[in-house]
Amino acid sequence: MVTKFSEEHLAVKEAARNFAQQELLPGVIERDKHMLFATDQIKAMGEMGFLGMMVNEKYGGGGMDTLSYVLAMEEISKIDNSCSVCMSVNNSLVCWGLETYGNEEQKLKYLPLLTSGEWIGAFCLSEPEAGSDATSQRTTAIDNGDHYIINGTKNWITNGGSSSLHIVIAQTDPDKGHKGINAFLVETSWAGVEIGAKEDKLGIRGSDTHTIMYNDVKVPKENRIGEDGFGFKFAMKVLSGGRIGIAAQALGIAAGAYELSVKYALEREAFGKPIAKHQAIAFKLADMATEIQAARLLVYNSARLKDLNRNYDMASSMAKLFAAETAMKQTVEAVQIHGGYGYVKEYHVERLMRDAKITQIYEGTSEIQRMVISRSVLTGKLYEEF
Ligand code: CAA
Repeated sequence: MVTKFSEEHLAVKEAARNFAQQELLPGVIERDKHMLFATDQIKAMGEMGFLGMMVNEKYGGGGMDTLSYVLAMEEISKIDNSCSVCMSVNNSLVCWGLETYGNEEQKLKYLPLLTSGEWIGAFCLSEPEAGSDATSQRTTAIDNGDHYIINGTKNWITNGGSSSLHIVIAQTDPDKGHKGINAFLVETSWAGVEIGAKEDKLGIRGSDTHTIMYNDVKVPKENRIGEDGFGFKFAMKVLSGGRIGIAAQALGIAAGAYELSVKYALEREAFGKPIAKHQAIAFKLADMATEIQAARLLVYNSARLKDLNRNYDMASSMAKLFAAETAMKQTVEAVQIHGGYGYVKEYHVERLMRDAKITQIYEGTSEIQRMVISRSVLTGKLYEEF
């Protein structure tokens, strides 16, 4: 690729690759099988600086750019997507949202805990009846003097069982529609926060996905993020950046499956020669390499736009859409190249295939990304920024 990376970018990529190989690979099959959250490994990721990569050093972060974060996400996601989704939510949805839109007191209080990995964050937007249609929030936050009282249920919350801080999106004034939505910083130790059932999932099985109930949770006014009514726009802005992280995850899944497939195709022999020398397999590898490279260019481009402070809403949706579709398609091909071995856990590609599916669903389904892209295309509003 004709892209110039700095020494720092290359060092981050190598550190993430080594960490994934040495610390995540050894237990990844067992964690997936038994739905085990990688508590020790996530702690180590905090110590390595992978949980608050883009946060200013003043709050304990790495002070790095989005491209560095994406390079690290790609490498971690080649191996363990339960860890990389935890990393993505903590970095992009929680830390970035808080640093960009929170006030100084909120940042000083919470960011050092989140960047070090002492605390893990969760982003609580989805509800039983508000997934893609995010403005239909049923969770309420009633103004009660110097605090709000939050009631409601959130679904499919990543890091749900292991997080100490939630960013909760809730309706404060139903008459105002999306302008009556706010975002709150809620500590999970507060009375009324109830961690519900853990989901038994197809993929990212080590990720800690829970339903969360808020029962009369008293949240001080100073824990609201931004001006009254800013919560929906906050969620949209945060998700735009978050989608770059999930796009990088999807890219890593596809690239990880591709690397395993090339290795296997060169080693495995059939009809007297390595299967890579048969055109049926060689052409599959050629298509994989081409599509993954196209996804990579979209992902890196969206990160660069964000680093340049340009509008990246459409670019991040394009990157997430294309990378997620590529991950799904190419992990299926990776299983096919591996034949019977691809269907068993030991060879890792079946797990990557299962993990790929969620990238087409969370942080906005592929259909939602097409909605965002088509609106931009049809209004022409953001096209010049791409
Ligand atoms: N930046 C700033 N403002 C934005 C925005 C953006 N990117 N996108 C929309 N808005 C604003 C609009 O301008 C509008 O404001 P005004 O009325 O003042 O103009 C307001 O938000 C409402 O926008 P829309 O009319 O476009 O809203 P909509 O109801 O049509 O929905 C949507 C838009 C893009 C479909 C949105 O609902 C959406 O993104 N849905 C998907 C939700 C999602 O991604 N959920 C993922 C859950 S989190 C998760 O998965 C985390 C995890 O654990 C891994």
